[in-house]
This record gives sequence, C-alpha cells and structure tokens, in this order.
Amino acid sequence: MSMTHPRAGRPRERVLTMRGIGKRFGAVKALTDVDFWVNEGEVVALVGDNGAGKSTLVKVLAGVHPPDSGSIEFDGDEVVIGSPADAQQLGIETIFQDLALCDNLDVVANLWLGRELRDGATLDEVDMEQRTWTLLRELSAKIPSVRVPVASLSGGQRQTVAIARSLIGEPRVVILDEPTAALGVAQTAEVLNLIERLRERGHGVILISHNMADVMAVADRVVVLRLGRNNGVYNVADVTSETLIAAITGAVDHSVAPRRVPERTDAAPASARDDEPADQTSGGTVIRMPRAGSRPTSRPRGDGSR
Ligand SMILES: Nc1ncnc2c1ncn2[C@@H]1O[C@H](COP(=O)(O)OP(=O)(O)OP(=O)(O)O)[C@@H](O)[C@H]1O
Ligand SMILES: [Mg+2]
Repeated sequence: MSMTHPRAGRPRERVLTMRGIGKRFGAVKALTDVDFWVNEGEVVALVGDNGAGKSTLVKVLAGVHPPDSGSIEFDGDEVVIGSPADAQQLGIETIFQDLALCDNLDVVANLWLGRELRDGATLDEVDMEQRTWTLLRELSAKIPSVRVPVASLSGGQRQTVAIARSLIGEPRVVILDEPTAALGVAQTAEVLNLIERLRERGHGVILISHNMADVMAVADRVVVLRLGRNNGVYNVADVTSETLIAAITGAVDHSVAPRRVPERTDAAPASARDDEPADQTSGGTVIRMPRAGSRPTSRPRGDGSR
C-alpha cells in the first residue's frame, strides 16, 4: 500500500455521481429525486436542517441503505452499493459520528485493525508504526505518541485517528459526518486542516456539517438538502452564509428550479443538454449537474492557495 498522493498532479476527475435518488422509510420520504456529485480533490459540504436527509444520503453511499430509486455512478460506471463491504471495495470510506475506535488499543493498532501487516506469522509492528507516522506527518496531525491508548487522546486527536484509519486503503471518497460537532475551537481548526490535507491528497471529501463557519472555511461547494430534496448547489466562493441559511430554512426555495441556461457556470460547459437532472440555482449563480462523463471546466478554490 502506498502512502503517497495517489492522484497528485492529474486533472480533477469526477469520482461519484448520484442521480434521482429516492429513499422511503415506511411513510417517511427521506429522500426524493436527489442529485449529488463529487470530484477528486474537492470538498463538498452537505448541509440541511435536522431530518433533511443528509445522513440517509451518505448511508446510501456507505451501503447501509439501498436506495429505492435513482442511480449511482462511480468512476464512470454504474454501480450498486449493496453493503458496507461494497462501499469499501469501491473506495468509499465513511467516518460516522461515533468514530467507532477501540479505546483500549493504541493508535497504531486502531489504524491497522483488520488490515494488520505481517512479517511471516507475526505482526510487523515496526512497519505499521513507521507507516502510521508517515501518514500522520502527511496529514500534519498533532499526535504526541502512537503507542498510547486512544482513550487518552483529545476529541480532535481521536477524530484524526479515525480519519487516518479511513485512509489506509487509499479511498477515492471520504465521508465525514459532523466531524467537529463535539470539538472546541483549536481542535476544530485541527480537523479543518486535516480536511484540507485530504483535498490535497486528491480524495473527494463529503462533509456533513451544521456549522456554516466550518463550511465556509473548508468547502469548495455546498449542497443543500431540505425536506429530503435538493434545495441549491453553491460554489463557496460565490455565496454568503446568510444565503446558505436561507436555503436550509426554506426562506429560499430552489427545490423546483427554473430551467434556464446560465450566463456563466463554474461546473459545466454551456453546451450542457436539456435532458439533464434539474439545475440548482443560487441567487444568480446556477450550477448545472454535469452530464455523465463530462468534466468540470474550472475549480473556484482550493488549489492550496488559501
Ligand atoms: N432508519 C430509519 N427508519 C425510519 N426513518 C428514518 C430512518 N433514518 C432516517 N429516517 C427519517 O428520514 C428523515 C431524514 O433523516 P436523516 O437522518 O437522513 O436526516 P439528517 O439530515 O441527517 O438530520 P440530522 O441533521 O438531524 O442528523 C427523517 O425524517 C428521519 O426521521
Ligand atoms: Mg444526520
């Protein structure tokens, strides 16, 4: 397994496209006709009020909930994600809010749990420890020792360990569900830094957050869900947190978007066809759902210039 940047220096390609995703739980329509996409080296924030469908959408990607309708493309191929093992095999790693670390084990053991490196019949502790340090250094992570039980680490450090663990298999997409919800100011900054490192390494990152400051600080694009439907897709460079909050609360209703071709798009060529999934509008900026196989023409932010 390599700890190097797998896709550094290559053009940013579409990793994942979800189209028309629907999911019901009995009488509850958790998701209706939701479109979503992420490119490599892009941080997409998924925001919305409680019950908007954020966790359900990422659980569809994580193989926890099969969708009732819609399709998922991964690296250009249509896929069915029927189980968490399917998701992992594709290269989709999810860090759920409870982190699911083994408190009594040290950092190295947590990172390699179930994927231990062996030297003949014995565990190769030296190699695992060296690779752990390499990875943590690459993430600029502040962990004083990798041989202490994770129970003794701070919330931010535990989040770091969970993120580092998710990278062992070099996933294409990393999903973080509310990674800063329980953290103080300094620890939040550390985790946001870590998300920047994930982007630099070329991973597509999906960040669920209720914190608009975090979203504005680290995301390239924001997807708003409201009552289980798309309610706007915004480039962070073009939007204020007030506009985002309006879309989240429903003061701005984009769930039925007007079909007009924008003067300028950041995410798709103007030649985009009319039979594509619904446009998402955002107070002057319209981001079209690019069609299958098309590539974004530009990236607004996040090339390490911040
Ligand atoms: N396993 C389930 N069984 C029944 N209903 C569910 C289930 N999971 C989610 N729901 C319902 O689906 C809707 C969307 O829930 P979801 O957890 O996706 O929202 P969310 O955006 O993640 O909210 P929050 O910000 O509170 O985490 C809600 O009405 C919720 O009650
Ligand atoms: Mg949730």
